[in-house]
Formats: sequence, structure tokens, C-alpha cells
Amino acid sequence: MAGAIAYVSRDTDGVAWRKVLEAGLGPIDYRTLAGGLGNTDEIEIALAWKPKPGLLASFRNMRMIVSLGMGVDHLLADDRLPEGVPITRIMDDGLVGQMSEYAIYWALRHHRDIDRYEASQRARTWKPEEFVDTIHRRIGVMGLGTIGQDTARKFAMLGFPTAGWSRTAKEIAGIETFHGADGFREFLARTDILVDVLPLTRDTKGLLDGKAFSALPRGAYFINMARGGHVVDVDLLAALDSEHLGGAALDVFNTEPLPPDHPYWTHPRVHVTPHVAGATNPRTASPGVIENIKRLRAGQPLINTVDPKTGY
Ligand code: GLV
Repeated sequence: MAGAIAYVSRDTDGVAWRKVLEAGLGPIDYRTLAGGLGNTDEIEIALAWKPKPGLLASFRNMRMIVSLGMGVDHLLADDRLPEGVPITRIMDDGLVGQMSEYAIYWALRHHRDIDRYEASQRARTWKPEEFVDTIHRRIGVMGLGTIGQDTARKFAMLGFPTAGWSRTAKEIAGIETFHGADGFREFLARTDILVDVLPLTRDTKGLLDGKAFSALPRGAYFINMARGGHVVDVDLLAALDSEHLGGAALDVFNTEPLPPDHPYWTHPRVHVTPHVAGATNPRTASPGVIENIKRLRAGQPLINTVDPKTGY
């Protein structure tokens, strides 16, 4: 039998992944952290989510690392990550759809003043709010990979003027695009609802600081469904408190779980969700993983590979 496949995550017991992999590959030597990894020299492939630093380096014969998240910062944070072992990541249509739903939900809630109507209802007050036309509510999506493009397209389909910003230049029909450090301020200045789906890399850590928030128009709304590490929290709180920002929906944080005493929990203009914008679903994520296991074993080039230098 081929080498072992190890499920290296503490999020679940790994049974769901075992089922989908067996359905696609037949009998496999499948091991989990929870059930014990056995002789780790036999591990050929690791399916990993937030592995303990140094653990993957101890799998001496490993030939492929599969990130169980679309983001790979959890792997690249390990300074002992074995060099030369290819890293691939899941591409999950289910997760992509959930992410764009998350952004659209919070954007529409803000766009249609639902927070205010909820407060009015509690006060038994009949008070129509002033309406902003959809064609005047500008959406800006940071990050134009698979998730960002799907999200931007769906906003454009709803009639919002939509722009995207990415590290390198991209062209997408119906979306105004900006790129690089030079395009960043211009992108922010035309964005009423900012949606973050960037990967967390050396370049994007702390990118959303006081300067970036002040470049947004007054009253702008911020949706973070990417990584908390992009945000300088004191700067975001200051922008909210000064009412330069109208509000924020945050799914991801510098520290997760968000500590109980963190000001975000009780901030009147912040909505907090516990990193659920897009959950990996083995059913929709497994076809690409199975394809890569077959390719690896047949000596063919892998798909969905990650460049550790760019971080995605
Ligand atoms: C979730 O955060 C992911 O990276 O898929």
C-alpha cells in the first residue's frame, strides 16, 4: 500500500475526510492526531490545519502538505516547515460560495440600515431612514483570488459599482481594478464598503492601519472575512469611535478565539462572528485533494500549489 495520509488538525476527529478520501481513492492508510499518528516515517501526505510548529518537519518521508484551509498562513508561520515538500491548498467551491454570501449579507444589512431599523423596532418607532441608491454604494474587494473574484462579481450583479484591489494587476469584466501600493489609496478613497479577502502575508500584515482607514470615505463600512492580522486593532477602534467608519463586521481576529474582554464584543457598531465566514467542507473540498494525491502518486504535476515566497 502507498504511504500513510495523516490528518493533522485538532478541529475535528477527521472521520469526514477519511470517508471522502476512501470514496475517491479506495482503501487508504489513514491516521489522525486524535487517534495517533503511529510511525511518522510512514506518512506520505499531511492534511494540515494549524499544525504545531515543528510537527510537519518530523515526518521525514512526507511528499506533500495539503492545507485544509484556503489560507496557508497557518503553515507558513511554522519556521521549521520542511523545505522542498510541495504545499497545496484546498480549493473549495462550497467555501467560496459561503464567503461571498457572508460579505453580501453584511453589506446589504449596512446598505439597507437594518441595524437602525432593529433599534427603531425595539423603541417601537416608525422611522424610515434615508436611502442610498445601490448605484451610489461603492463596494471594494481587497484580494482578487478565487474568493475575491466570486465576491466582486456577485456584488456587481446586484448593481453595486464594484472595484477590486490586488498585489499584481488583474483584469475582470465588470469590475474596476486597482493594484499595488500605488493603487491602494485610490481604491480606498472610492470604497464605501470594504471587503477584505486578502491572504495574510508579510506584505499584508498590518496593512489596514489608521492611514488606510482614514483614506476611506467618512461613514465607510468594513467587512473582514480574511485574517485579523491585516488589521491594527487600536486603529480600527479609533476609526469607529470617531465615527469615521460607520461600522464593521468582523469574522477574524488577531487573537482567536477573541478574548472575552476585547472591546469588539460590545462595540455598538461592530458585529462579531467566530471565524465562520467560510468553513472547509470535505465534500466540496475533496475532489482537488484526491486529484492531487493521484497526481503525486503518478508523478504528475500538482494543482493548487502554494508559493511560499508570495504566501498564497
Ligand atoms: C479559513 O480561514 C481558510 O483559510 O480556509
